[in-house]
Amino acid sequence: MRKIAIIGGTGIYNPEALSGFESKIIETPYGQALCNIGEMHGNMVVFITRHGVGHKTPPHKVNYRANIWALKSLGVEEIFATTAVGSLNPEMKAGHFVVCDNALDFTKSRINTFYDDEYRGVAHVDVTSPYCPVLREKVINILKKTDIPFRATGTYVCTEGPRFETAAEIKMFAMLGGDLVGMTNIPESILAREAEICYTNCSIVTNMAAGISPTPLTHSEVVEEMGKSIQNMEKLISAFIAYNEDVDATCNCPHAMAEVGGFKL
Ligand code: HPA
Repeated sequence: MRKIAIIGGTGIYNPEALSGFESKIIETPYGQALCNIGEMHGNMVVFITRHGVGHKTPPHKVNYRANIWALKSLGVEEIFATTAVGSLNPEMKAGHFVVCDNALDFTKSRINTFYDDEYRGVAHVDVTSPYCPVLREKVINILKKTDIPFRATGTYVCTEGPRFETAAEIKMFAMLGGDLVGMTNIPESILAREAEICYTNCSIVTNMAAGISPTPLTHSEVVEEMGKSIQNMEKLISAFIAYNEDVDATCNCPHAMAEVGGFKL
């Protein structure tokens, strides 16, 4: 039995297939995390709505540490996270799914580590490849068999938000090699690595980024565009949970903190 978590971003609040799960508040050293726990395709599945019930928590206020710690305490070994993103890359258009393989961190005010107290001490986690290559391969293998338009690589630029970007920022991110811009993948992916949990992201392009889009950006545009991809995302999530084939890739995620004796709850 695999132990899998789905972290649902904007628009992915309660996938139909995951209804009937038991909601539990998990107490963590960082605060509470609301987890929906159940079973699907013979695997244990935990579903977290990143922005909370009713999308009330903005990206810079999500309690990323509580969420990841709670998943670790439940024994989760794989996280599949969805995110809505703007695109800087003309080849990545609204409705495209992108399995990001790298990231640029432009967040400013977030606590981005578990290793900042005496209990854990000092550690410097390796994030050369911030997304798990094994989980990425699983997702890519599934997408190849669908008619969902997708890209197997992409660099995710994480901004602080909650505002959208300026046109000049987007120009800079494109010059630096960014493909997509969103507000949530950092520190989520980094904390998962510190907690030695495999983590992959599937981003859904909802808009062209600021200054590329011919119109000013709105959150309702993002939500509306996400709405068109929800069925595809739910199919992908279900196939990911059911996936039981071996893949060629290997990863070191479960041993990411070996240098400091492993991650301790
Ligand atoms: N910028 C940042 N986050 C986003 C965007 C964007 O253009 N679209 C969806 N999430």
